[in-house]
Amino acid sequence: MLRRSNSLPDESIIENASAMNHLSRRFAIAPMMEWTDRHCRFFHRLLTRRALIYTEMITTGAVLRGDRARLLGYDPAEHPVALQLGGCDPRQLAESARVAADFGYHEVNLNVGCPSDRVQEGRFGACLMAEPALVGDCVAAMKAAVAIPVTVKCRIGIDDQDPEQALDALTHAVKAAGVDALIVHARKAWLEGLSPRENRDIPPLDYDRVYRLKAAHPDLSIALNGGIIDLDQAATHLSRLDGVMMGRAAYQEPWRLLAVDRELFGVPSPFATPRTAAEALIPYIEREVARGVRLHAITRHTLGLFRGVPGARAFRRHLATEAVKPGADAATFRAALAHVVDMDAQVAHTAAA
Ligand SMILES: Cc1cc2nc3c(=O)[nH]c(=O)nc-3n(C[C@H](O)[C@H](O)[C@H](O)COP(=O)(O)O)c2cc1C
Repeated sequence: MLRRSNSLPDESIIENASAMNHLSRRFAIAPMMEWTDRHCRFFHRLLTRRALIYTEMITTGAVLRGDRARLLGYDPAEHPVALQLGGCDPRQLAESARVAADFGYHEVNLNVGCPSDRVQEGRFGACLMAEPALVGDCVAAMKAAVAIPVTVKCRIGIDDQDPEQALDALTHAVKAAGVDALIVHARKAWLEGLSPRENRDIPPLDYDRVYRLKAAHPDLSIALNGGIIDLDQAATHLSRLDGVMMGRAAYQEPWRLLAVDRELFGVPSPFATPRTAAEALIPYIEREVARGVRLHAITRHTLGLFRGVPGARAFRRHLATEAVKPGADAATFRAALAHVVDMDAQVAHTAAA
Protein backbone atom coordinates (compact mmCIF):
# COMPACT_ATOMS: atom_id res chain seq x y z
CA MET A 1 0.00 0.00 0.00
CA LEU A 2 1.26 3.48 -0.74
CA ARG A 3 1.51 6.25 1.73
CA ARG A 4 -0.70 9.15 0.77
CA SER A 5 0.03 12.79 0.04
CA ASN A 6 2.36 14.86 2.21
CA SER A 7 4.50 11.81 2.90
CA LEU A 8 7.28 10.49 0.76
CA PRO A 9 6.92 7.08 -0.88
CA ASP A 10 8.97 4.38 0.80
CA GLU A 11 12.56 3.95 -0.29
CA SER A 12 12.03 0.84 -2.36
CA ILE A 13 9.55 2.77 -4.50
CA ILE A 14 12.02 5.62 -4.94
CA GLU A 15 14.80 3.17 -5.82
CA ASN A 16 12.66 1.31 -8.30
CA ALA A 17 11.46 4.58 -9.71
CA SER A 18 14.92 5.89 -10.37
CA ALA A 19 15.95 2.55 -11.85
CA MET A 20 13.01 2.80 -14.24
CA ASN A 21 13.27 6.49 -14.97
CA HIS A 22 15.55 6.10 -17.93
CA LEU A 23 12.99 3.71 -19.42
CA SER A 24 10.07 5.96 -18.51
CA ARG A 25 7.75 2.98 -18.62
CA ARG A 26 6.84 2.67 -14.97
CA PHE A 27 3.58 4.52 -15.51
CA ALA A 28 1.98 5.15 -18.88
CA ILE A 29 -1.24 6.71 -20.07
CA ALA A 30 -2.85 4.41 -22.61
CA PRO A 31 -3.32 5.18 -26.29
CA MET A 32 -6.99 6.05 -26.79
CA MET A 33 -8.57 6.95 -30.13
CA GLU A 34 -10.46 10.24 -30.09
CA TRP A 35 -9.17 10.90 -26.59
CA THR A 36 -5.37 11.10 -26.39
CA ASP A 37 -4.95 13.69 -29.09
CA ARG A 38 -2.27 16.36 -28.79
CA HIS A 39 -4.40 18.69 -26.66
CA CYS A 40 -5.16 15.90 -24.22
CA ARG A 41 -1.50 14.93 -24.06
CA PHE A 42 -0.40 18.51 -23.41
CA PHE A 43 -2.93 18.72 -20.58
CA HIS A 44 -1.88 15.37 -19.10
CA ARG A 45 1.74 16.41 -19.24
CA LEU A 46 0.93 19.35 -16.99
CA LEU A 47 -0.32 16.86 -14.41
CA THR A 48 2.59 14.43 -14.55
CA ARG A 49 6.12 15.00 -15.79
CA ARG A 50 7.11 11.35 -15.51
CA ALA A 51 4.35 9.33 -17.17
CA LEU A 52 4.99 7.98 -20.64
CA ILE A 53 2.22 9.31 -22.86
CA TYR A 54 0.88 7.58 -25.97
CA THR A 55 -0.75 8.97 -29.08
CA GLU A 56 -3.95 7.55 -30.49
CA MET A 57 -3.34 4.63 -32.84
CA ILE A 58 -2.36 5.86 -36.30
CA THR A 59 -2.32 3.42 -39.19
CA THR A 60 0.73 2.97 -41.37
CA GLY A 61 -1.40 4.04 -44.34
CA ALA A 62 -2.12 7.37 -42.66
CA VAL A 63 1.51 7.88 -41.64
CA LEU A 64 2.83 7.11 -45.10
CA ARG A 65 0.17 8.83 -47.19
CA GLY A 66 -1.60 11.29 -44.85
CA ASP A 67 -0.99 14.83 -43.71
CA ARG A 68 1.95 14.12 -41.41
CA ALA A 69 2.14 17.51 -39.76
CA ARG A 70 -1.50 17.22 -38.69
CA LEU A 71 -1.40 13.53 -37.73
CA LEU A 72 1.99 13.39 -36.08
CA GLY A 73 2.65 16.95 -34.91
CA TYR A 74 2.91 17.50 -31.19
CA ASP A 75 4.20 20.02 -28.70
CA PRO A 76 7.74 19.30 -27.44
CA ALA A 77 6.39 19.79 -23.91
CA GLU A 78 4.57 16.45 -24.31
CA HIS A 79 7.81 14.44 -24.08
CA PRO A 80 8.24 11.59 -23.42
CA VAL A 81 5.59 10.64 -25.96
CA ALA A 82 5.23 7.36 -27.84
CA LEU A 83 3.56 6.90 -31.21
CA GLN A 84 1.27 3.92 -31.55
CA LEU A 85 1.05 2.38 -34.99
CA GLY A 86 -1.60 0.15 -36.48
CA GLY A 87 -0.44 -2.09 -39.30
CA CYS A 88 0.81 -5.53 -40.25
CA ASP A 89 3.17 -5.00 -43.15
CA PRO A 90 6.78 -5.14 -41.93
CA ARG A 91 8.07 -2.77 -44.61
CA GLN A 92 5.35 -0.19 -44.04
CA LEU A 93 5.80 -0.44 -40.29
CA ALA A 94 9.56 0.03 -40.65
CA GLU A 95 9.02 3.09 -42.83
CA SER A 96 6.42 4.47 -40.40
CA ALA A 97 8.75 3.87 -37.47
CA ARG A 98 11.42 5.86 -39.31
CA VAL A 99 8.98 8.72 -39.75
CA ALA A 100 8.13 8.52 -36.02
CA ALA A 101 11.81 8.65 -35.08
CA ASP A 102 12.37 11.61 -37.40
CA PHE A 103 9.47 13.42 -35.72
CA GLY A 104 11.26 12.92 -32.41
CA TYR A 105 8.95 10.38 -30.80
CA HIS A 106 10.41 8.67 -27.75
CA GLU A 107 9.12 5.20 -28.66
CA VAL A 108 7.11 3.48 -31.34
CA ASN A 109 4.47 0.95 -30.32
CA LEU A 110 2.65 -1.66 -32.38
CA ASN A 111 -1.05 -2.21 -31.70
CA VAL A 112 -1.87 -5.91 -31.28
CA GLY A 113 -4.99 -5.33 -29.22
CA CYS A 114 -7.60 -3.31 -31.08
CA PRO A 115 -10.65 -5.41 -32.00
CA SER A 116 -12.61 -2.99 -34.22
CA ASP A 117 -14.08 -4.26 -37.49
CA ARG A 118 -12.14 -1.70 -39.49
CA VAL A 119 -8.90 -2.89 -37.96
CA GLN A 120 -9.80 -6.55 -38.51
CA GLU A 121 -10.48 -5.83 -42.17
CA GLY A 122 -6.96 -4.45 -42.37
CA ARG A 123 -5.75 -7.67 -40.66
CA PHE A 124 -4.05 -5.84 -37.83
CA GLY A 125 -4.76 -4.98 -34.21
CA ALA A 126 -5.95 -7.83 -31.99
CA CYS A 127 -6.27 -10.37 -34.81
CA LEU A 128 -2.46 -10.35 -35.00
CA MET A 129 -2.54 -12.39 -31.76
CA ALA A 130 -3.17 -15.32 -34.13
CA GLU A 131 -0.05 -14.52 -36.19
CA PRO A 132 2.88 -14.30 -33.78
CA ALA A 133 5.47 -14.97 -36.50
CA LEU A 134 4.19 -12.01 -38.51
CA VAL A 135 4.26 -9.79 -35.41
CA GLY A 136 7.85 -10.91 -34.87
CA ASP A 137 8.69 -9.92 -38.46
CA CYS A 138 7.03 -6.55 -37.94
CA VAL A 139 9.02 -5.86 -34.77
CA ALA A 140 12.27 -7.03 -36.37
CA ALA A 141 11.71 -4.70 -39.32
CA MET A 142 10.94 -1.76 -37.04
CA LYS A 143 13.95 -2.49 -34.84
CA ALA A 144 16.20 -2.59 -37.89
CA ALA A 145 14.85 0.77 -39.02
CA VAL A 146 15.11 2.89 -35.86
CA ALA A 147 17.19 3.41 -32.74
CA ILE A 148 14.23 4.41 -30.55
CA PRO A 149 12.54 1.68 -28.47
CA VAL A 150 10.03 -0.52 -30.26
CA THR A 151 7.26 -1.91 -28.06
CA VAL A 152 4.10 -3.97 -28.52
CA LYS A 153 0.70 -3.61 -26.83
CA CYS A 154 -1.27 -6.83 -26.94
CA ARG A 155 -4.06 -8.85 -25.33
CA ILE A 156 -3.68 -12.19 -23.56
CA GLY A 157 -5.42 -13.88 -26.48
CA ILE A 158 -8.40 -13.72 -28.81
CA ASP A 159 -11.58 -15.74 -29.19
CA ASP A 160 -11.01 -19.40 -28.31
CA GLN A 161 -7.22 -19.13 -28.04
CA ASP A 162 -5.66 -20.54 -24.89
CA PRO A 163 -4.04 -17.48 -23.24
CA GLU A 164 -1.20 -19.63 -21.92
CA GLN A 165 -0.16 -20.58 -25.43
CA ALA A 166 -1.21 -17.47 -27.31
CA LEU A 167 0.58 -15.00 -25.06
CA ASP A 168 3.66 -17.23 -24.82
CA ALA A 169 3.86 -17.56 -28.60
CA LEU A 170 3.53 -13.81 -29.11
CA THR A 171 6.06 -13.04 -26.39
CA HIS A 172 8.64 -15.44 -27.79
CA ALA A 173 8.23 -14.01 -31.27
CA VAL A 174 8.60 -10.36 -30.26
CA LYS A 175 11.39 -11.07 -27.82
CA ALA A 176 13.38 -12.90 -30.48
CA ALA A 177 12.84 -9.85 -32.69
CA GLY A 178 14.32 -7.57 -30.00
CA VAL A 179 11.21 -5.87 -28.66
CA ASP A 180 12.01 -3.35 -25.93
CA ALA A 181 8.86 -3.85 -23.87
CA LEU A 182 5.53 -5.60 -23.93
CA ILE A 183 2.35 -4.00 -22.60
CA VAL A 184 -0.37 -6.54 -21.95
CA HIS A 185 -4.04 -5.61 -21.74
CA ALA A 186 -4.88 -8.44 -19.36
CA ARG A 187 -8.01 -9.73 -21.05
CA LYS A 188 -8.89 -11.48 -24.27
CA ALA A 189 -10.47 -9.70 -27.21
CA TRP A 190 -13.51 -11.46 -28.64
CA LEU A 191 -13.54 -10.56 -32.29
CA GLU A 192 -17.00 -11.88 -33.04
CA GLY A 193 -20.04 -10.33 -31.44
CA LEU A 194 -18.57 -7.69 -29.12
CA SER A 195 -18.09 -4.02 -29.89
CA PRO A 196 -14.69 -2.45 -29.15
CA ARG A 197 -16.25 -0.87 -26.09
CA GLU A 198 -17.60 -4.20 -24.81
CA ASN A 199 -14.21 -5.71 -25.50
CA ARG A 200 -12.77 -3.37 -22.86
CA ASP A 201 -15.12 -4.66 -20.16
CA ILE A 202 -16.68 -8.03 -20.86
CA PRO A 203 -13.82 -10.50 -21.35
CA PRO A 204 -12.59 -11.08 -17.78
CA LEU A 205 -9.32 -9.60 -16.58
CA ASP A 206 -6.59 -12.11 -15.75
CA TYR A 207 -3.74 -10.32 -13.98
CA ASP A 208 -2.21 -13.61 -12.87
CA ARG A 209 -1.58 -14.49 -16.49
CA VAL A 210 0.55 -11.36 -16.84
CA TYR A 211 2.37 -12.04 -13.56
CA ARG A 212 3.19 -15.54 -14.80
CA LEU A 213 4.49 -14.10 -18.05
CA LYS A 214 6.81 -11.76 -16.15
CA ALA A 215 8.03 -14.62 -13.95
CA ALA A 216 8.86 -16.59 -17.10
CA HIS A 217 10.59 -13.60 -18.74
CA PRO A 218 12.34 -11.66 -15.97
CA ASP A 219 14.64 -10.04 -18.55
CA LEU A 220 11.80 -8.54 -20.60
CA SER A 221 10.14 -5.27 -19.59
CA ILE A 222 6.47 -6.08 -19.11
CA ALA A 223 3.72 -3.60 -18.26
CA LEU A 224 0.15 -4.36 -17.34
CA ASN A 225 -2.94 -2.62 -18.63
CA GLY A 226 -6.64 -3.03 -18.00
CA GLY A 227 -8.95 -2.05 -15.16
CA ILE A 228 -6.41 -0.12 -13.08
CA ILE A 229 -8.44 2.60 -11.41
CA ASP A 230 -6.10 4.17 -8.86
CA LEU A 231 -2.46 4.54 -7.90
CA ASP A 232 -2.66 2.06 -5.03
CA GLN A 233 -3.60 -0.61 -7.54
CA ALA A 234 -0.84 0.63 -9.82
CA ALA A 235 1.70 0.32 -6.99
CA THR A 236 0.54 -3.21 -6.22
CA HIS A 237 1.14 -4.28 -9.82
CA LEU A 238 4.48 -2.47 -9.82
CA SER A 239 5.71 -4.75 -7.06
CA ARG A 240 5.58 -7.60 -9.61
CA LEU A 241 5.90 -5.91 -12.99
CA ASP A 242 7.96 -3.23 -14.70
CA GLY A 243 5.18 -0.88 -15.56
CA VAL A 244 1.49 -0.10 -15.54
CA MET A 245 -0.63 1.60 -18.15
CA MET A 246 -3.80 3.43 -17.15
CA GLY A 247 -6.46 4.27 -19.71
CA ARG A 248 -10.00 5.30 -18.83
CA ALA A 249 -9.31 6.22 -15.21
CA ALA A 250 -6.57 8.61 -16.32
CA TYR A 251 -8.76 10.23 -18.93
CA GLN A 252 -12.03 10.41 -17.03
CA GLU A 253 -10.46 11.43 -13.73
CA PRO A 254 -7.30 13.29 -14.73
CA TRP A 255 -6.86 14.65 -11.19
CA ARG A 256 -5.44 11.22 -10.39
CA LEU A 257 -2.44 12.01 -12.58
CA LEU A 258 -1.42 14.83 -10.27
CA ALA A 259 -0.23 12.26 -7.72
CA VAL A 260 1.72 10.05 -10.15
CA ASP A 261 5.09 11.79 -9.87
CA ARG A 262 4.98 11.91 -6.09
CA GLU A 263 3.57 8.48 -5.39
CA LEU A 264 5.20 6.39 -8.10
CA PHE A 265 8.43 8.28 -8.77
CA GLY A 266 9.15 9.93 -5.43
CA VAL A 267 9.45 13.45 -6.88
CA PRO A 268 7.21 16.45 -6.24
CA SER A 269 3.96 16.85 -8.15
CA PRO A 270 4.16 19.53 -10.85
CA PHE A 271 1.28 21.45 -9.26
CA ALA A 272 -0.18 21.50 -5.78
CA THR A 273 -3.81 21.40 -6.87
CA PRO A 274 -5.92 20.61 -9.94
CA ARG A 275 -6.84 24.27 -10.04
CA THR A 276 -3.25 25.51 -10.36
CA ALA A 277 -2.70 22.91 -13.07
CA ALA A 278 -5.80 24.16 -14.88
CA GLU A 279 -4.52 27.73 -14.67
CA ALA A 280 -1.26 26.58 -16.22
CA LEU A 281 -3.24 25.40 -19.23
CA ILE A 282 -4.42 28.94 -19.99
CA PRO A 283 -1.35 30.12 -21.97
CA TYR A 284 -1.69 26.99 -24.13
CA ILE A 285 -5.38 27.72 -24.68
CA GLU A 286 -4.56 31.29 -25.68
CA ARG A 287 -1.93 30.13 -28.14
CA GLU A 288 -4.02 27.38 -29.69
CA VAL A 289 -7.23 29.42 -29.94
CA ALA A 290 -5.19 32.17 -31.64
CA ARG A 291 -4.16 29.51 -34.18
CA GLY A 292 -7.80 28.67 -34.90
CA VAL A 293 -8.32 25.68 -32.58
CA ARG A 294 -11.80 25.60 -31.04
CA LEU A 295 -11.79 25.91 -27.27
CA HIS A 296 -13.89 22.77 -26.84
CA ALA A 297 -11.24 20.68 -28.61
CA ILE A 298 -8.94 21.43 -25.67
CA THR A 299 -11.27 21.78 -22.73
CA ARG A 300 -13.27 18.58 -23.40
CA HIS A 301 -10.29 16.72 -21.95
CA THR A 302 -10.45 18.65 -18.69
CA LEU A 303 -14.06 17.90 -17.71
CA GLY A 304 -13.16 15.32 -15.04
CA LEU A 305 -10.42 17.40 -13.43
CA PHE A 306 -12.41 18.51 -10.41
CA ARG A 307 -14.40 15.43 -9.55
CA GLY A 308 -15.58 15.70 -5.95
CA VAL A 309 -14.64 19.39 -5.59
CA PRO A 310 -17.54 21.83 -4.94
CA GLY A 311 -18.35 23.59 -8.19
CA ALA A 312 -17.13 20.73 -10.39
CA ARG A 313 -20.54 20.21 -11.94
CA ALA A 314 -20.94 23.93 -12.72
CA PHE A 315 -17.43 23.88 -14.27
CA ARG A 316 -18.42 20.99 -16.53
CA ARG A 317 -21.77 22.53 -17.41
CA HIS A 318 -20.21 25.89 -18.22
CA LEU A 319 -17.73 24.29 -20.58
CA ALA A 320 -20.34 22.01 -22.15
CA THR A 321 -22.52 24.97 -23.11
CA GLU A 322 -20.02 27.80 -23.61
CA ALA A 323 -16.82 26.22 -24.91
CA VAL A 324 -18.56 24.97 -28.05
CA LYS A 325 -19.70 28.45 -29.06
CA PRO A 326 -17.87 30.35 -31.79
CA GLY A 327 -15.53 32.89 -30.21
CA ALA A 328 -15.08 30.90 -26.99
CA ASP A 329 -11.59 31.51 -25.66
CA ALA A 330 -9.41 31.52 -22.56
CA ALA A 331 -11.85 33.91 -20.84
CA THR A 332 -14.52 31.20 -21.20
CA PHE A 333 -12.24 28.71 -19.51
CA ARG A 334 -11.45 31.23 -16.74
CA ALA A 335 -15.17 31.76 -16.20
CA ALA A 336 -15.69 27.99 -15.91
CA LEU A 337 -12.84 27.81 -13.40
CA ALA A 338 -14.48 30.53 -11.33
CA HIS A 339 -17.24 28.04 -10.48
CA VAL A 340 -14.76 25.75 -8.75
CA VAL A 341 -14.34 26.43 -5.07
CA ASP A 342 -10.66 27.01 -4.38
CA MET A 343 -10.16 24.62 -1.51
CA ASP A 344 -6.63 25.87 -0.80
CA ALA A 345 -7.78 29.49 -0.61
CA GLN A 346 -10.55 28.43 1.75
CA VAL A 347 -8.09 26.64 4.00
CA ALA A 348 -5.77 29.68 4.04
CA HIS A 349 -8.72 31.96 4.80
CA THR A 350 -9.89 29.78 7.68
CA ALA A 351 -6.37 29.54 9.07
CA ALA A 352 -5.97 33.35 8.99
CA ALA A 353 -9.30 33.97 10.72
C1 LIG B 1 -11.93 5.68 -26.16
C2 LIG B 1 -10.87 4.61 -26.19
C3 LIG B 1 -10.05 4.49 -27.30
C4 LIG B 1 -9.04 3.51 -27.34
N1 LIG B 1 -8.18 3.50 -28.39
C5 LIG B 1 -7.09 2.66 -28.35
C6 LIG B 1 -6.06 2.74 -29.32
O1 LIG B 1 -6.06 3.59 -30.22
N2 LIG B 1 -5.03 1.85 -29.23
C7 LIG B 1 -4.96 0.91 -28.23
O2 LIG B 1 -4.00 0.14 -28.16
N3 LIG B 1 -5.93 0.83 -27.30
C8 LIG B 1 -6.97 1.69 -27.32
N4 LIG B 1 -7.90 1.66 -26.32
C9 LIG B 1 -7.73 0.69 -25.23
C10 LIG B 1 -6.90 1.29 -24.10
O3 LIG B 1 -5.60 1.64 -24.53
C11 LIG B 1 -6.79 0.30 -22.93
O4 LIG B 1 -6.14 -0.86 -23.39
C12 LIG B 1 -8.15 -0.09 -22.39
O5 LIG B 1 -8.98 1.05 -22.20
C13 LIG B 1 -8.00 -0.84 -21.05
O6 LIG B 1 -7.35 -0.02 -20.09
P1 LIG B 1 -8.17 0.76 -18.95
O7 LIG B 1 -9.02 -0.28 -18.26
O8 LIG B 1 -7.13 1.34 -18.04
O9 LIG B 1 -9.01 1.78 -19.62
C14 LIG B 1 -8.90 2.61 -26.27
C15 LIG B 1 -9.72 2.74 -25.15
C16 LIG B 1 -10.69 3.74 -25.10
C17 LIG B 1 -11.57 3.87 -23.86
